[in-house]
Amino acid sequence: MSGYRHALVTGGAGFIGHHLVRRLLGNGIAVSVLDDLSMGQRQRVDPAARFIEGDIRSPEAVREALAGVDCVFHLAARVTIRGSFESFYDDMDINLMGTANILRELPASNVRHFSLASSMAVYADCESAVPVPESHTTNPIAPYGVSKLAAERLCAQMLATAGIRFSALRYFNTYGPGQTFTPYVGVITIFINRLLAGEPPILFGDGEQRRDFVHVDDIVAGTVATLAGEPGIYNLGTGRDTSVRELAQQLLALLGPERTVEYAAAQEGELRNSIADVSAARRGLGYRPTRRLAEELPELVEMLRAAVR
Ligand SMILES: NC(=O)c1ccc[n+]([C@@H]2O[C@H](COP(=O)([O-])OP(=O)(O)OC[C@H]3O[C@@H](n4cnc5c(N)ncnc54)[C@H](O)[C@@H]3O)[C@@H](O)[C@H]2O)c1
Repeated sequence: MSGYRHALVTGGAGFIGHHLVRRLLGNGIAVSVLDDLSMGQRQRVDPAARFIEGDIRSPEAVREALAGVDCVFHLAARVTIRGSFESFYDDMDINLMGTANILRELPASNVRHFSLASSMAVYADCESAVPVPESHTTNPIAPYGVSKLAAERLCAQMLATAGIRFSALRYFNTYGPGQTFTPYVGVITIFINRLLAGEPPILFGDGEQRRDFVHVDDIVAGTVATLAGEPGIYNLGTGRDTSVRELAQQLLALLGPERTVEYAAAQEGELRNSIADVSAARRGLGYRPTRRLAEELPELVEMLRAAVR
């Protein structure tokens, strides 16, 4: 595919990363993974991939991981949004300086293409529930978004200078099998796990925050499409929105129609509306998300139920 033979996936032992590794291998591309296993799990990395346990901030680890590689998918990051107020220093250190460390090693490598996993967290909040294009104001409301936006900007400058193709992908709320469980991200996984444990889902504020929930298979397809597509900055979502309250109701219908939700105070750093306009990705990458949330939830519930048994 597109003449690329060997990809490095940083964060390849994480939620999105391990699905991406599998897809690249399936497309006949050799894969190396660099992951420090701070959140990732070694056993879910496809054994056909070369695995380097190491930190993206280590020049030696990055050099070793780049050996023989002609394209990079940089996903390794600390993924918190609300939590990033507490951990802002580490978030910057890993998400920005870790990215800078990889960029520093690229000129001595054979890398010709670089894709960065960015985030909807780079955007300013949106008053109305409308899909936002990439031209929407970038004004992150949490340090995590600052780290992602800074990494995007740094990559764009340094990779243009180095003559390396670059795409940044602003992933929206990604869900699917194998999501890393943290209290900060992955509301679908958090709600299902709570309901399976007999606990109610907790809605922050009025629960009317609207989100664009996108299946990991669609995210992976859009990410791989950067190898052949037009370089650029792209939203990857679905263009459809669901409120957190509607999501909780759909899950209650599956897991406990007699139960109710609980409410807690609104959280600092949470966007009110976060919905992707994906028309640029459709044009530039041929991106066509196919999965629908309501159709995916029953299977996801069964997978998580099996995992807790
Ligand atoms: N999941 C989402 O909804 C979402 C939304 C927007 C953007 N993103 C971005 O997508 C990427 C992947 O997210 P994910 O949901 O798979 O998260 P994840 O936490 O499951 O995966 C991140 C991986 O990076 C690794 N990692 C962290 N720090 C590292 C370091 N210093 N050196 C090497 N490896 C390190 C972790 O061990 C983990 O395996 C991230 O860049 C994230 O910011 C995710």
